[in-house]
Amino acid sequence: MKIFLDTANIKSIKFYNDMGLIDGVTTNPSLLAKEKDNPHKIMKSISNMMDKGDVSLEVIGTTSSEMIKEGRQLKQYGDNVVVKCPMTADGLIACKKLTSENIPVNITLIFSSNQAILAAKSGAKYISPFIGRLDDIGNDGINIIGEIKQIFQNYDYNTQILVASVRHPMHVIQSAKIGADAITMPPKILDKMIQHNLTTIGLNNFLSDWKKIK
Ligand code: E4P
Repeated sequence: MKIFLDTANIKSIKFYNDMGLIDGVTTNPSLLAKEKDNPHKIMKSISNMMDKGDVSLEVIGTTSSEMIKEGRQLKQYGDNVVVKCPMTADGLIACKKLTSENIPVNITLIFSSNQAILAAKSGAKYISPFIGRLDDIGNDGINIIGEIKQIFQNYDYNTQILVASVRHPMHVIQSAKIGADAITMPPKILDKMIQHNLTTIGLNNFLSDWKKIK
């Protein structure tokens, strides 16, 4: 399962990329709004930093023609850029067009398997089902990952399932068990995956026992 970092924070991206842990980055307008620098400067820097790893950069336009124009511009930031379009009728039209120009697309804001089918049929490289936001409204978000996986396998769709809106490490384990192609998570979740209390306690014990050796 590919691991993407869901952030526009350059420092975090550099930290985890230097550790060799991430396969790419996903951003969105809300994440960019949290940073101080110019959003276009940040998006360009992220694509430069990630070398070959896919970097999803989101369009702001709402009509297909705006999205197509913007998608072409965003693609100039790097070969690794994947254009993120929303799951709307216009987003699907833009997806088809951009894909035909060899510009890969990530269809974002997916909340149902029906939306996933349409995004796959439009040629999306990735679809991003937002499981945490489904949990927030009382649904079991992870359910749609299994459902989409089965549907994509039935029809040999090449579109990759990129699990998004991840809230806790259990989401990661559940997604990996289902066989999601990729998952994107905020830095704090990646950090939680690294840490375990028993590792900390065990290491402290080893080090204090070592000091007892004469
Ligand atoms: C995905 O690409 C989105 O950036 C992200 O996962 C949304 O997560 P949120 O629901 O925590 O905002």
